[in-house]
Amino acid sequence: MRIFIESKKQELNAIIIAHYYQLPEIQEIADFVGDSLQMARQAARTEARVIICCGVRFMAESAKILSPEKTVILPDIQAGCPMADMITAEQLRAMKADHPNAAVVCYVNSSAEVKAESDICCTSSNAVNVVRSIPEEQPVIFVPDRNLGSYVESQTGRKMIRWEGCCPIHDVLTLQDIETQKKLHPDAILVVHPECPPAVCRQADAVCSTGGMLQYIKSSTAKEFIIGTEEGFLHTLQQNCPDKQFYLARAGFQCRDMKYISLEKLTRAMDSMAYQIEVAEEIRKRARIVLDRMIAIN
Ligand code: 13P
Ligand code: SF4
Repeated sequence: MRIFIESKKQELNAIIIAHYYQLPEIQEIADFVGDSLQMARQAARTEARVIICCGVRFMAESAKILSPEKTVILPDIQAGCPMADMITAEQLRAMKADHPNAAVVCYVNSSAEVKAESDICCTSSNAVNVVRSIPEEQPVIFVPDRNLGSYVESQTGRKMIRWEGCCPIHDVLTLQDIETQKKLHPDAILVVHPECPPAVCRQADAVCSTGGMLQYIKSSTAKEFIIGTEEGFLHTLQQNCPDKQFYLARAGFQCRDMKYISLEKLTRAMDSMAYQIEVAEEIRKRARIVLDRMIAIN
Protein backbone atom coordinates (compact mmCIF):
# COMPACT_ATOMS: atom_id res chain seq x y z
CA MET A 1 0.00 0.00 0.00
CA ARG A 2 2.81 2.40 0.91
CA ILE A 3 4.56 1.85 -2.44
CA PHE A 4 1.29 2.47 -4.30
CA ILE A 5 0.64 5.67 -2.35
CA GLU A 6 4.17 6.98 -2.96
CA SER A 7 4.07 6.33 -6.71
CA LYS A 8 0.52 7.64 -7.10
CA LYS A 9 1.55 10.79 -5.28
CA GLN A 10 4.23 11.46 -7.92
CA GLU A 11 1.86 10.64 -10.78
CA LEU A 12 -0.85 13.00 -9.47
CA ASN A 13 1.53 15.70 -8.27
CA ALA A 14 -0.22 15.41 -4.92
CA ILE A 15 0.60 16.39 -1.37
CA ILE A 16 -0.78 14.50 1.64
CA ILE A 17 -1.49 16.75 4.60
CA ALA A 18 -2.57 15.23 7.90
CA HIS A 19 -3.75 16.39 11.30
CA TYR A 20 -2.01 15.33 14.51
CA TYR A 21 -5.08 13.26 15.47
CA GLN A 22 -4.66 10.91 12.52
CA LEU A 23 -3.66 7.26 12.92
CA PRO A 24 0.12 6.74 13.29
CA GLU A 25 0.43 5.09 9.85
CA ILE A 26 -1.28 8.11 8.23
CA GLN A 27 0.97 10.59 10.06
CA GLU A 28 3.98 8.58 8.88
CA ILE A 29 3.03 8.55 5.21
CA ALA A 30 1.93 12.21 5.12
CA ASP A 31 4.15 14.91 3.57
CA PHE A 32 3.01 17.35 6.21
CA VAL A 33 1.51 16.83 9.68
CA GLY A 34 0.24 19.77 11.70
CA ASP A 35 -2.54 21.47 13.63
CA SER A 36 -5.48 23.19 11.92
CA LEU A 37 -3.66 26.49 11.38
CA GLN A 38 -0.51 24.82 10.06
CA MET A 39 -2.62 22.66 7.70
CA ALA A 40 -4.45 25.74 6.36
CA ARG A 41 -1.14 27.55 5.82
CA GLN A 42 0.30 24.50 4.04
CA ALA A 43 -2.78 24.22 1.80
CA ALA A 44 -2.48 27.91 0.91
CA ARG A 45 1.18 27.71 -0.12
CA THR A 46 1.59 24.27 -1.69
CA GLU A 47 2.49 24.01 -5.37
CA ALA A 48 1.08 20.49 -5.68
CA ARG A 49 -1.89 20.07 -8.02
CA VAL A 50 -3.84 17.77 -5.69
CA ILE A 51 -4.23 18.15 -1.92
CA ILE A 52 -5.19 14.99 -0.07
CA CYS A 53 -6.50 16.03 3.29
CA CYS A 54 -6.25 13.42 6.04
CA GLY A 55 -8.41 15.10 8.63
CA VAL A 56 -12.06 16.11 8.80
CA ARG A 57 -14.32 17.93 6.37
CA PHE A 58 -13.82 21.49 7.61
CA MET A 59 -10.06 21.06 7.09
CA ALA A 60 -10.55 19.88 3.49
CA GLU A 61 -13.06 22.70 2.90
CA SER A 62 -10.56 25.24 4.20
CA ALA A 63 -7.95 23.84 1.79
CA LYS A 64 -10.41 24.20 -1.12
CA ILE A 65 -11.37 27.75 -0.08
CA LEU A 66 -7.70 28.73 0.00
CA SER A 67 -6.66 26.82 -3.14
CA PRO A 68 -9.71 26.69 -5.41
CA GLU A 69 -7.68 25.80 -8.51
CA LYS A 70 -6.49 22.59 -6.84
CA THR A 71 -8.25 19.28 -6.49
CA VAL A 72 -8.89 18.65 -2.79
CA ILE A 73 -9.67 15.12 -1.69
CA LEU A 74 -11.03 13.87 1.62
CA PRO A 75 -10.50 10.07 1.71
CA ASP A 76 -13.73 9.45 3.66
CA ILE A 77 -16.66 11.83 3.19
CA GLN A 78 -18.10 10.70 6.56
CA ALA A 79 -15.23 12.40 8.38
CA GLY A 80 -16.96 15.49 9.78
CA CYS A 81 -16.73 17.42 13.02
CA PRO A 82 -19.75 17.25 15.35
CA MET A 83 -18.85 20.65 16.79
CA ALA A 84 -18.83 22.25 13.34
CA ASP A 85 -22.35 20.86 12.81
CA MET A 86 -23.64 22.55 15.98
CA ILE A 87 -24.26 25.88 14.24
CA THR A 88 -25.77 26.67 10.85
CA ALA A 89 -25.37 29.83 8.76
CA GLU A 90 -29.03 30.58 9.44
CA GLN A 91 -28.52 30.43 13.21
CA LEU A 92 -25.50 32.70 12.91
CA ARG A 93 -27.48 35.19 10.79
CA ALA A 94 -30.13 35.31 13.54
CA MET A 95 -27.43 35.95 16.15
CA LYS A 96 -25.99 38.76 14.01
CA ALA A 97 -29.43 40.32 13.68
CA ASP A 98 -29.66 40.42 17.50
CA HIS A 99 -26.20 42.05 17.79
CA PRO A 100 -25.79 44.17 14.65
CA ASN A 101 -22.61 45.96 15.82
CA ALA A 102 -20.73 42.83 16.82
CA ALA A 103 -17.71 41.41 15.01
CA VAL A 104 -18.11 37.69 14.33
CA VAL A 105 -15.19 35.40 15.13
CA CYS A 106 -15.70 31.82 14.02
CA TYR A 107 -13.54 28.90 15.03
CA VAL A 108 -12.13 27.13 11.97
CA ASN A 109 -14.11 24.05 13.11
CA SER A 110 -17.15 25.34 11.20
CA SER A 111 -18.78 24.95 7.79
CA ALA A 112 -17.83 27.11 4.79
CA GLU A 113 -21.29 28.72 5.03
CA VAL A 114 -20.71 29.76 8.65
CA LYS A 115 -17.28 31.12 7.75
CA ALA A 116 -18.85 33.14 4.94
CA GLU A 117 -21.14 34.81 7.51
CA SER A 118 -18.21 35.73 9.77
CA ASP A 119 -15.70 38.59 9.91
CA ILE A 120 -12.63 36.62 10.89
CA CYS A 121 -11.78 33.01 11.55
CA CYS A 122 -9.45 31.61 14.23
CA THR A 123 -7.94 28.32 15.27
CA SER A 124 -7.16 27.28 18.82
CA SER A 125 -3.58 28.50 18.32
CA ASN A 126 -4.42 32.10 17.39
CA ALA A 127 -7.91 32.65 18.90
CA VAL A 128 -6.62 34.96 21.66
CA ASN A 129 -4.69 37.15 19.21
CA VAL A 130 -7.59 37.18 16.74
CA VAL A 131 -9.94 38.53 19.43
CA ARG A 132 -7.29 41.04 20.54
CA SER A 133 -7.17 42.31 16.94
CA ILE A 134 -10.79 43.54 17.24
CA PRO A 135 -11.26 47.07 18.63
CA GLU A 136 -11.91 46.99 22.42
CA GLU A 137 -15.22 48.80 22.20
CA GLN A 138 -16.72 46.44 19.61
CA PRO A 139 -18.83 43.51 20.88
CA VAL A 140 -17.64 40.07 19.72
CA ILE A 141 -19.76 37.09 18.73
CA PHE A 142 -17.76 33.87 19.12
CA VAL A 143 -18.94 30.60 17.47
CA PRO A 144 -19.30 27.66 17.81
CA ASP A 145 -17.11 26.47 20.74
CA ARG A 146 -18.20 27.75 24.15
CA ASN A 147 -15.08 26.29 25.82
CA LEU A 148 -12.56 27.91 23.49
CA GLY A 149 -14.64 31.09 23.81
CA SER A 150 -14.42 30.89 27.58
CA TYR A 151 -10.65 30.34 27.43
CA VAL A 152 -10.28 33.40 25.17
CA GLU A 153 -12.35 35.43 27.65
CA SER A 154 -10.04 34.35 30.48
CA GLN A 155 -6.98 35.48 28.51
CA THR A 156 -8.32 38.74 27.09
CA GLY A 157 -10.57 39.81 29.97
CA ARG A 158 -13.22 40.44 27.36
CA LYS A 159 -16.79 39.15 27.65
CA MET A 160 -18.09 37.76 24.36
CA ILE A 161 -21.45 36.63 23.01
CA ARG A 162 -20.80 32.90 22.78
CA TRP A 163 -22.57 30.10 20.96
CA GLU A 164 -23.17 27.01 23.11
CA GLY A 165 -21.38 24.47 20.92
CA CYS A 166 -18.62 22.14 22.09
CA CYS A 167 -16.41 19.26 21.04
CA PRO A 168 -18.09 16.11 22.38
CA ILE A 169 -14.63 14.52 22.75
CA HIS A 170 -12.88 17.26 24.76
CA ASP A 171 -15.95 18.48 26.65
CA VAL A 172 -16.27 15.26 28.67
CA LEU A 173 -12.85 15.54 30.32
CA THR A 174 -13.52 16.00 34.05
CA LEU A 175 -11.65 17.20 37.14
CA GLN A 176 -12.04 13.64 38.41
CA ASP A 177 -10.10 12.32 35.38
CA ILE A 178 -7.35 14.85 36.06
CA GLU A 179 -7.20 13.96 39.74
CA THR A 180 -6.89 10.26 38.89
CA GLN A 181 -4.00 10.90 36.47
CA LYS A 182 -2.25 13.27 38.86
CA LYS A 183 -2.35 10.64 41.62
CA LEU A 184 -0.83 8.10 39.24
CA HIS A 185 1.79 10.54 37.89
CA PRO A 186 2.45 13.18 40.56
CA ASP A 187 5.44 14.73 38.74
CA ALA A 188 3.68 15.08 35.39
CA ILE A 189 2.84 18.45 33.85
CA LEU A 190 -0.80 18.85 32.74
CA VAL A 191 -1.24 20.18 29.19
CA VAL A 192 -4.76 20.49 27.75
CA HIS A 193 -6.51 21.70 24.61
CA PRO A 194 -8.75 24.80 25.02
CA GLU A 195 -11.75 22.76 23.82
CA CYS A 196 -11.71 21.16 27.31
CA PRO A 197 -14.13 22.54 29.94
CA PRO A 198 -13.02 25.76 31.72
CA ALA A 199 -12.64 24.00 35.11
CA VAL A 200 -10.12 21.61 33.55
CA CYS A 201 -8.27 24.43 31.72
CA ARG A 202 -7.90 26.28 35.04
CA GLN A 203 -6.08 23.26 36.53
CA ALA A 204 -3.65 22.96 33.60
CA ASP A 205 -0.02 24.05 33.49
CA ALA A 206 -0.51 24.94 29.82
CA VAL A 207 -3.55 25.34 27.58
CA CYS A 208 -2.64 25.18 23.88
CA SER A 209 -3.56 24.00 20.42
CA THR A 210 -1.94 20.73 19.38
CA GLY A 211 0.83 22.66 17.59
CA GLY A 212 1.32 24.82 20.68
CA MET A 213 1.49 21.71 22.92
CA LEU A 214 4.21 20.21 20.76
CA GLN A 215 6.32 23.36 21.02
CA TYR A 216 5.69 23.68 24.76
CA ILE A 217 6.63 20.05 25.47
CA LYS A 218 9.72 20.13 23.23
CA SER A 219 11.11 23.13 25.06
CA SER A 220 10.13 21.94 28.58
CA THR A 221 12.72 20.34 30.86
CA ALA A 222 9.99 18.19 32.46
CA LYS A 223 9.99 14.48 31.62
CA GLU A 224 6.36 13.48 32.15
CA PHE A 225 3.15 14.98 30.78
CA ILE A 226 -0.57 14.32 31.14
CA ILE A 227 -2.14 15.13 27.78
CA GLY A 228 -5.68 16.49 27.54
CA THR A 229 -6.41 15.95 23.89
CA GLU A 230 -7.10 13.27 21.27
CA GLU A 231 -5.03 10.07 21.52
CA GLY A 232 -3.53 10.32 18.00
CA PHE A 233 -1.44 13.21 19.23
CA LEU A 234 0.49 10.90 21.55
CA HIS A 235 2.12 9.36 18.49
CA THR A 236 3.33 12.80 17.35
CA LEU A 237 4.70 13.48 20.83
CA GLN A 238 6.47 10.13 21.12
CA GLN A 239 8.08 10.62 17.69
CA ASN A 240 9.26 14.14 18.52
CA CYS A 241 10.22 13.62 22.18
CA PRO A 242 11.34 10.00 22.61
CA ASP A 243 12.96 10.78 25.99
CA LYS A 244 9.65 11.94 27.56
CA GLN A 245 6.64 10.05 28.94
CA PHE A 246 3.06 10.85 27.98
CA TYR A 247 -0.17 9.84 29.68
CA LEU A 248 -3.60 10.37 28.14
CA ALA A 249 -5.82 12.40 30.50
CA ARG A 250 -8.64 9.88 30.15
CA ALA A 251 -9.11 6.48 28.53
CA GLY A 252 -10.98 6.54 25.20
CA PHE A 253 -10.00 10.10 24.28
CA GLN A 254 -10.70 9.43 20.62
CA CYS A 255 -12.34 11.41 17.81
CA ARG A 256 -14.22 8.85 15.73
CA ASP A 257 -14.33 11.19 12.74
CA MET A 258 -10.56 11.61 12.64
CA LYS A 259 -10.23 7.83 12.70
CA TYR A 260 -12.37 7.31 9.58
CA ILE A 261 -9.21 7.84 7.50
CA SER A 262 -7.16 4.66 7.09
CA LEU A 263 -4.37 3.57 4.74
CA GLU A 264 -6.93 1.53 2.77
CA LYS A 265 -9.19 4.56 2.30
CA LEU A 266 -6.24 6.75 1.39
CA THR A 267 -5.20 4.21 -1.27
CA ARG A 268 -8.75 4.02 -2.62
CA ALA A 269 -9.04 7.81 -2.68
CA MET A 270 -5.84 8.20 -4.68
CA ASP A 271 -6.99 5.57 -7.11
CA SER A 272 -10.54 6.88 -7.62
CA MET A 273 -9.92 10.60 -6.93
CA ALA A 274 -12.86 10.59 -4.51
CA TYR A 275 -14.16 12.38 -2.52
CA GLN A 276 -13.54 15.73 -4.17
CA ILE A 277 -14.46 18.73 -2.03
CA GLU A 278 -16.33 21.58 -3.69
CA VAL A 279 -17.45 24.89 -2.23
CA ALA A 280 -19.94 27.13 -4.09
CA GLU A 281 -18.04 30.11 -5.50
CA GLU A 282 -20.21 32.76 -3.82
CA ILE A 283 -19.59 31.15 -0.39
CA ARG A 284 -15.95 30.43 -1.14
CA LYS A 285 -15.09 34.04 -1.97
CA ARG A 286 -16.55 35.34 1.29
CA ALA A 287 -15.05 32.51 3.37
CA ARG A 288 -11.66 33.18 1.73
CA ILE A 289 -11.52 36.72 3.09
CA VAL A 290 -12.32 35.39 6.57
CA LEU A 291 -9.62 32.68 6.37
CA ASP A 292 -7.02 35.07 4.90
CA ARG A 293 -7.55 37.39 7.87
CA MET A 294 -6.96 34.45 10.21
CA ILE A 295 -3.81 33.27 8.41
CA ALA A 296 -2.31 36.74 8.78
CA ILE A 297 -2.51 36.48 12.61
CA ASN A 298 -0.15 34.24 14.61
P1 13P B 1 -5.98 22.13 16.56
O1 13P B 1 -6.30 23.51 16.17
O2 13P B 1 -5.17 22.05 17.81
O3 13P B 1 -5.38 21.40 15.43
O4 13P B 1 -7.33 21.39 16.95
C1 13P B 1 -8.27 21.02 15.99
C2 13P B 1 -9.31 20.20 16.57
O5 13P B 1 -10.20 19.74 15.89
C3 13P B 1 -9.28 19.98 17.99
O6 13P B 1 -10.27 19.09 18.35
FE1 SF4 C 1 -14.27 18.08 15.95
FE2 SF4 C 1 -13.69 17.43 18.45
FE3 SF4 C 1 -13.05 15.76 16.48
FE4 SF4 C 1 -11.71 18.09 16.81
S1 SF4 C 1 -11.76 16.32 18.20
S2 SF4 C 1 -12.49 17.24 14.89
S3 SF4 C 1 -13.41 19.40 17.50
S4 SF4 C 1 -15.12 16.38 17.10
